[in-house]
Formats: sequence, C-alpha cells, structure tokens
Amino acid sequence: MDTAIREVVILGGGTAGWMTAAYLQKVFEGTVQVTLLEAATIPRIGVGEATVPNLQRVFFDRLGIPEDEWMRECNAAFKTAVKFVNWRKKEPGAPDNHFYHAFGLIPNVDNIPLSHYWVLRNEGGERVDEGVDYACYREPPMMDAKLAPRFRDGRPAVNYAWHFDAQLVADYLRRLSTGWGVKHVVDELSSVEKTPDGHIKALHTRGGRVLEGDLFVDCSGFRGLLINQAMEEPFLDMSDHLLCNSAVATAINHDDARFGIEPYTSAIASNHGWMWKIPMLGRFGTGYVYSSEFCSQDEAIREFSAKWGLDPEKTAFNRIRFRVGRNRRAWVKNCVSIGLASCFVEPLESTGIYFITASIYQLAKHFPDKGFNPVLMDRFNREVEMMFDDTRDFLQAHFLTSSRDDTAFWLANKNDLKLSDALKDKLETWKTGLTVNMPVSGEEAYYGNFETEFRNFWTNSSYYCVLSGMGWMPEQPLTTLKYRPSSVAHAEEAFQRVKLQQQALLQGLPTNHEFLQRLHRQN
Ligand code: FDA
Repeated sequence: MDTAIREVVILGGGTAGWMTAAYLQKVFEGTVQVTLLEAATIPRIGVGEATVPNLQRVFFDRLGIPEDEWMRECNAAFKTAVKFVNWRKKEPGAPDNHFYHAFGLIPNVDNIPLSHYWVLRNEGGERVDEGVDYACYREPPMMDAKLAPRFRDGRPAVNYAWHFDAQLVADYLRRLSTGWGVKHVVDELSSVEKTPDGHIKALHTRGGRVLEGDLFVDCSGFRGLLINQAMEEPFLDMSDHLLCNSAVATAINHDDARFGIEPYTSAIASNHGWMWKIPMLGRFGTGYVYSSEFCSQDEAIREFSAKWGLDPEKTAFNRIRFRVGRNRRAWVKNCVSIGLASCFVEPLESTGIYFITASIYQLAKHFPDKGFNPVLMDRFNREVEMMFDDTRDFLQAHFLTSSRDDTAFWLANKNDLKLSDALKDKLETWKTGLTVNMPVSGEEAYYGNFETEFRNFWTNSSYYCVLSGMGWMPEQPLTTLKYRPSSVAHAEEAFQRVKLQQQALLQGLPTNHEFLQRLHRQN
C-alpha cells in the first residue's frame, strides 16, 4: 500500500502560500501534487518587503532560480543592514542619531569576537564616538555613501538581503508554480470537512468545489482559517512582550538620480512606535508601526504624514491590525500553518518572510507519510517555537534597551514588558561582558549550512550591534582580556584591517542606483 502523501492542499495565495507551493512542487520533484486555493476577493496583506540573506540560499537556490532573474521580476533592491534612527534619546534640536545592524558575523580575534575588544577600548568612554558597527564591520561607510553591495561585475562584496514588492513576488511565484504543475483554484473557502478522528478531509468552496487532500497547509493569513478555526488550535497572544499591534503603510515616489538609493532598511523611532523605510528603484515603501494602546489611527496617520510631507486626505493608506504571537502548535494532525496563520512578531528586523522560509525548510525536513508520526510533528513544532520565541526576545530587547523615555509608549517599553527567562539570562550575560550566543562556526559555515544559522540566528554580533547601538553597554569588559595582552594587541591590528576594508569598498563599489538601474534595464 502506498503510504506516501500524494495530495497537498494549500489555503491562501499570499507570499506564504506561493512560496510553499513552489518549494514543495519543485523540491519533491513532482512526487506530491500541490493544489492552492485562494480567494480573489480577499486581498493579500500586501506588505512584507524586506528580507534576510538566507532567502537566496535556502529558498531560491533550491528552486534553481538565479538572484538576478527573480530580482528583475520583483523590482528588488539590496538591503545591507537595518539602520536604526533616533532609538537613542535625543535632546530637542540635536541631530538624528543612528546605528547599523549589519548582516554577518563580527570577526574573532584569538577566538573572542572583536566586539569585546571594542568594549575594552571604550572603557572610560574615551572612544564611544565610534560605535561597534563602524569599528567592527566593513559596511557602514559604503552604506553611508549609498553604494551597492556587489561589484560592477556582479560579484558580492559584503553580505546582503533584498527589498522587493511583495505583490510582485507572490505573482512571480504563482507563475512559476503553475508552470511546474501546481493546480491553482480561485475560489473562497466555505467550510472544512473533517474525518471522524479530526483530520481535515476536504476544503469546500463557495463555488461548489471539493478539494480533498492528505496534508493541508494553512496560509490564510491572520485569520488562521484552518489551524485556529477548523482545528481549534489556540493562538498564544504575546502582546505583553511586544506592544505594537497596528500599522499604516504607503509607497512614496523617489528621485533616485538626485538622492541615490539607500542600500538598507531604515527603522525610525517615532512617538508611539517606529517607521520603516524600504527603498527600491523609483520609490520606497514606508509604514508606521504603532501601538493602538497609546495612539489612535488618526494620530498615527498625522504623525506619519508629517514625517514624509504627505497629504492625509489624498494619500491611499494600507491600514493594518496585526496579532503578535504564535500558535501553540504550528502543526496539528494533518494541518500545518505557515506565514501569518502560524506566527508573527512585528516587522522590526523583517522576520516574516524568514519565518516562512524556515518553516518550509522544516516542513520538507520533517515531511510525513500518511501515518503522521507524532515525533515528526512534535520536532517540527519545537523548531518553530524556538525560532519564534528567540526572535520575540531579540525584538523585545530593542524596545527594552532603547534610552527613549519621551512618551508613554517608550516608558511602557521600559517598565511594563513581560520578559522571558531566556531573555533575562541573555541580558545578565551581556552585562558581565560575556558573549551572548557565540556562533559556533565562522561566517562561511554559518551561512553555508542553514542548520547552523537556524540554531543560532541572532548571534553575539546582532546583540552587540543593537544593544550597544541603543547605548546599553556591558557593565565591564570581558574580564579574561585583562590577562591577554597579546590578544589585545592582535585586536588593534584587526581594527586597522577593518578600516582598510572599509576604504577598499568605498573605492571599489558602484553606487546602488547605478547597479540597480543596470540590473533592471536588462529585463
Ligand atoms: P496574506 O494575508 O498575505 O495572504 C492570505 C491569503 O489567504 C490571501 O491570498 C487570501 O486571498 C487567502 N484567503 C484568506 N481567506 C480565504 C478564504 N476564505 N478562501 C480562500 N482564500 C483565502 N515580512 C518580512 O519578511 N519583511 C517585512 O518587511 C515585513 N513587513 C511587514 C509589515 C507589517 C505591518 C505586517 C503586518 C507584516 C509584515 N511582514 C513582513 C510579514 C509579511 O507581510 C508576511 O509574512 C507575508 O506577507 C505572508 O503573508 P501570508 O501569505 O501569510 O498572508
């Protein structure tokens, strides 16, 4: 008897639905038949424009799609970091403050990250004018100069991810997937038929179709139509960890020739949350993420419009309310949730599409047969839980350690957040000068093997960029450095090497505008 899963039915045609469809159809070489149901009348969320670097290696490479090809289809641009603007307290009239959270790992010197020598250098505060980003990473000066992360001949110069138009990505993946054999059904779900043991048997649509399957993937967005509604799996609300729950968003035309294209996402701290700015060719996507506890939608629109010089009466805003948290279990019986139907933190650090990529990877790794071995499901669920909770803690650390205290929103982030034990432990570790989440490999292995990256996604490098960027320094340098004068001398040489690398990039890279124009002209 054939016990293999043969029919997979996906509900939802947003980024999550089409990424899952394309991946399963291609990677399983047509051994499973994928059907995707989406309602033309229920729009995709339509945001989700910034990513992290593993999207190419873990997703597009597995589909055999070269970077430049999908970049052209999706009006994609480069993202070399997140630039945090005004997350430190600012006196009235003072210039904007900023720091970068770049990708990749801070180099080690004698098996200790350079960040720790940077703390030692700054003991006494003489050199805090140069943040850990400018002292330990190659990228900040080239980002300030709005250069591309690739050389003119296309070779990558530094680590980077992408900005793109979320609608174009889903449409592109739809065209690819249907070309590879995915069945596309445009209709609205009306009811879910179950077997006596509680598995899903079929999806019924308003148009009278019945879609039977062995495995069902819920990509229906925040509604969680299969996992939360049909399977009744509880959604664990975590709005006591992260306060933002709403956004208003729009796209703004941009004069690239005059101003250049920033090769990074900006996260600009605001009165009741923060605003993203995601540059692409000819325009940038932007949104104000805020907490409805502290600010009405009208107030948010006023502050957002004032920031970009928009006329609130004449601008079309995407108004979004989101849920923060995750399903207790992402996979229950023969129903797996992926995307917003599974979990969402908030957009800071752009993890939505990463969560989708990682969930698809984990689904393929734990893919069952019709026996639905509970160990497979349990291990998948644990991976998603770890991924989500670790990210929630990292995001929370941003809000908690920001020195802003100028509004009730920022004060609540200091005083009222619920912290996990894991985060408390990391913050204690940080204070003593120890490494937080020391990567167990060099950068090549870290990015070369997704298992390594997945298990330690937010490394010491990320914690250093963000916490020290917020002005939150360890209480003392790493004590062991008192006994290692030669390592400290080696570190000085490493700091000099970073400066030389920064100069070389400034001299060798084209502007981001020039590179993107050339790439997209070849369409
Ligand atoms: P989405 O809601 O897009 O799709 C749901 C699908 O289900 C639609 O096709 C709909 O038609 C279908 N559907 C619903 N009900 C149905 C029914 N009854 N019958 C049939 N079909 C039905 N991520 C990131 O990586 N970087 C970023 O910068 C951001 N930024 C961001 C900002 C904000 C404010 C939010 C809220 C989210 C982000 N994200 C993000 C997350 C990102 O938007 C998200 O991960 C992806 O768009 C995936 O969305 P989904 O496909 O899960 O749902």
